[in-house]
Amino acid sequence: MEGKSCKDSNIIMTQQMNPHDANLAGNVHGGIIMKFIDSAALAVAVRHARVNTVTASIDRLDFHYPIFVGDLLTARASLNFVGRTSMEIGVRVETENLMTEQIHHTSSAYLTFVALDKSGRPMMLPPLVLDTDEDQRQNLEAKTRREMRLKEKRRKRQTMLIQIALLTPKFLHSS
Ligand SMILES: CC(C)(COP(=O)(O)OP(=O)(O)OC[C@H]1O[C@@H](n2cnc3c(N)ncnc32)[C@H](O)[C@@H]1OP(=O)(O)O)[C@@H](O)C(=O)NCCC(=O)NCCS
Repeated sequence: MEGKSCKDSNIIMTQQMNPHDANLAGNVHGGIIMKFIDSAALAVAVRHARVNTVTASIDRLDFHYPIFVGDLLTARASLNFVGRTSMEIGVRVETENLMTEQIHHTSSAYLTFVALDKSGRPMMLPPLVLDTDEDQRQNLEAKTRREMRLKEKRRKRQTMLIQIALLTPKFLHSS
C-alpha cells in the first residue's frame, strides 16, 4: 500500500461560539470543545484512511483558558503516527476574541482513531511518510504515548480478569 505524508491530511478548522454552546455566564461548555476536537481529528483520520474511522481513545484533556460566546475557535490537527489499523492525531485549539484580537491556547489533545472495513472490523491503513524533522519528532513521541496506552489497556484487562476469577471460583479450576 502506498504511503501518505502528514501534509496530505493536516487540517485547520474554525468555528465561532454561539449562545447555545455556553452556560448562563457565557462560558462555552467543555463538551462543545471536546466535540470540536473530535471532529477536527476525524477529518484528518478520514483524509488519511478514506474509509470509516472511529475514535478509540482520547488522552487527557485540559482546558487552559476560558472560551466565551462570540470567540472564534481554531483547531490545527495532524497525524503523528500510523500503526497497522490505528492512528494518533494531535489537535491544538486556540481561541480568538474577535474584538480585542487576543489569541490564547486553550487545549491540546491526542486522539487515536481506528479504520474500519465495511463489516466494522479494523482494517489496514496506508503507512505514514515522514517528510520533515518535525514529523520525525512528533512520530517518535507518539510511539512512546502508544506504548503507554497499550500497557494501560493490558493492565486494565488483567485486573478485570483477576476480578472475574475471584468472583467465579469455578473459573479458576477450569482455566
Ligand atoms: C476501537 C475499536 C474498533 C477497537 O477494537 P478492538 O477489537 O480493540 O481492535 P484491535 O484489538 O484489533 O485493535 C485495533 C487497533 O486499535 C488500537 N486500539 C484498540 N483500543 C485502543 C485504545 N483504547 N486506545 C488506543 N488504541 C487502541 C490497537 O492498538 C490496534 O492498533 P494497530 O492495529 O495500529 O496496532 C472498538 O473498541 C470499537 O469499536 N470501539 C467503539 C468506537 C466508538 O464507538 N467510538 C465513538 C464514536 S466514533
